[in-house]
Amino acid sequence: MSGLVEEDRGIEAVRRVACPLPLSTLVEGPIAPKESCLGKLLCSRRSVRSFSGAPIPCEALLRLLVDSAGGVQSYLAETPNGASYEVLYRTIPQGGAIASVHLHLVLMQDNRSLTAGCYTLCPYQNTLHARNMRYDYDQLKKAMWWKDDAVNAGQTAVLIISADMESKAYKYGEKGYWLSVIEAGCALQNALLSICDQGLAGYAVAGFDPDLIASLLSLEKNEQPIVAVVMGMPAL
Ligand SMILES: Cc1cc2nc3c(=O)[nH]c(=O)nc-3n(C[C@H](O)[C@H](O)[C@H](O)COP(=O)(O)O)c2cc1C
Repeated sequence: MSGLVEEDRGIEAVRRVACPLPLSTLVEGPIAPKESCLGKLLCSRRSVRSFSGAPIPCEALLRLLVDSAGGVQSYLAETPNGASYEVLYRTIPQGGAIASVHLHLVLMQDNRSLTAGCYTLCPYQNTLHARNMRYDYDQLKKAMWWKDDAVNAGQTAVLIISADMESKAYKYGEKGYWLSVIEAGCALQNALLSICDQGLAGYAVAGFDPDLIASLLSLEKNEQPIVAVVMGMPAL
């Protein structure tokens, strides 16, 4: 590998992933995941970076957050010494059934009943809550490393997927950190599929300043922004 220019390294990496085992000897023919609703979504999901500038309907925004990592069921569990606590099952799997992923929405423009600002999903009730309403576009632009004007580019909202990196440490030690990162990845895929399902446009972004995002959202000390999804309505 040494001596390869960056582009050659990229080609090498693609080849390593693309090199198939001779599975055709085990399974008849190629299998394309396209017959089910999920299969069709998986096949049609693409990063879309062209936006119209129209607002995303509020219902679609909330649906997106709930699809990404909303709650689906909760029950009361008991500790060995009899204390009860609420366990929440969500659209994402959670290591040890311990919740660590948080979803934040930065709304870049007023949108019917929602004013521009930062919101957080409560997964226990699947409701949206104001987080930081002193929203400042320039602060977001700096945090997202945007060189061009995102408003002119038609982007209207940013989903920030964060996680409490310490939430699982008591049970899994250092591995708890990685479980939280994996769960954030699950939420990312759910978000991208929901965007596709609802006819919205968007793409994942890991290239941002996590400290500036944390300060924009007033995150708790252990909460780390992991990945963002830039969104809007698709360009016509
Ligand atoms: C974890 C993650 C981080 C990403 N970060 C960025 C990013 O910072 N900027 C960007 O333009 N695209 C980013 N992408 C989007 C990829 O560039 C995109 O998924 C890739 O080009 C493949 O295209 P597809 O999503 O249409 O399959 C990221 C994707 C993932 C999964």
